[in-house]
Amino acid sequence: MGGRDVRRYFRADFDDLEEYVPVKPLDVLAAEIGVPVGELVKLDANENLYGPIPEIREAVANADLHIYPDPGQTALRAAIAEYVGCAPEQVVAGSGADDLLDVLIRVTMPAAVVNAPPTFGMYGFLAKLSRARVIDVPRRADFGIDVHGVEHAVAEGAQLLFLTSPNNPTGNALSSAELEALCELDALVVVDEAYIEFGGESAVPRIAEYPNLVILRTFSKWAGLAGLRVGYSISHPDLAAAMMAIKQPYNVNVAGDVAARTALAHRAEIFETVRCMVAERDRMAGLVGGLGWLKPLPSCANFVLFEVHGRPAADVAAGLRRQGVLVRYYSRSELANYIRISAGRPEDTDRLMAALRALG
Ligand SMILES: Cc1ncc(COP(=O)(O)O)c(C=O)c1O
Repeated sequence: MGGRDVRRYFRADFDDLEEYVPVKPLDVLAAEIGVPVGELVKLDANENLYGPIPEIREAVANADLHIYPDPGQTALRAAIAEYVGCAPEQVVAGSGADDLLDVLIRVTMPAAVVNAPPTFGMYGFLAKLSRARVIDVPRRADFGIDVHGVEHAVAEGAQLLFLTSPNNPTGNALSSAELEALCELDALVVVDEAYIEFGGESAVPRIAEYPNLVILRTFSKWAGLAGLRVGYSISHPDLAAAMMAIKQPYNVNVAGDVAARTALAHRAEIFETVRCMVAERDRMAGLVGGLGWLKPLPSCANFVLFEVHGRPAADVAAGLRRQGVLVRYYSRSELANYIRISAGRPEDTDRLMAALRALG
């Protein structure tokens, strides 16, 4: 095709960008492993394996899919505000929390950001895409935040801090003393509470005190809506207004909008599955830990990080995968000896245990 290389139109730093490695879809995984989709045990992406409640499926089926969604997100922002206990003007909804991370970066265009690994990979990925310098402030040995390290990074010019509570993949939460110390800094503090429905203390009540605090939340985990992509932020109304002004107008689609509002209307029912997942997380951690070669870390989320002893963690993940059980393995050096396992239903834990025992 012609003599001109299309790559010469790409941004100059394209080859320096690191690709985000997402989880693969179920049918692709099933074909790769050679098992039927229904036999996969998907414990690799912290989804709610109970799936959406019937009321959500019905609401989506009846939605006006031929009409554009409301760019002002009026009904959704009001419903979220009622759930969270804030004003609708403080809420912005997006195509997953991921979308709002991107909106936050584009509204601030920071020269530098703080990332606290090991943590969710999207912060560094999106910051680099927007040409921000990513200052990694590694977590301490107990995976708590290195508050002094963050203070230094802010002194070096970081304007946006990405913190996660409970943190993915370590499962620990930010303490209120750490939150206060970080919010005193001259930077926008993003606290990603994607897993807050499973445990940990929310920072939402502190927004009134700290106008530089932004909370991110999602319907992907507790409400079982990962495939519909709905997340939201809660912040000072001025920041929310700026985010509303630059977001893609139709970032929340009609199906996601109605599904999220139905989830909130029926949250008592969904919280039953959240309670089941928390109980299953603890049962799973106990059973897996009982094998003697996988050490669970305490978790406030819907997953557990295990330290693998006596064999390579990569082999454990691969051995489980061959049996149709998917868990998360990280090749990053600080997590090379760990695997993360999501909490599923009791039958998922049973399949996991059988597969772990089969590894010998
Ligand atoms: C900490 C954290 N934040 C955000 C997300 C993504 O949320 P969403 O599906 O709403 O984009 C995830 C998903 O794994 C996550 O672990």
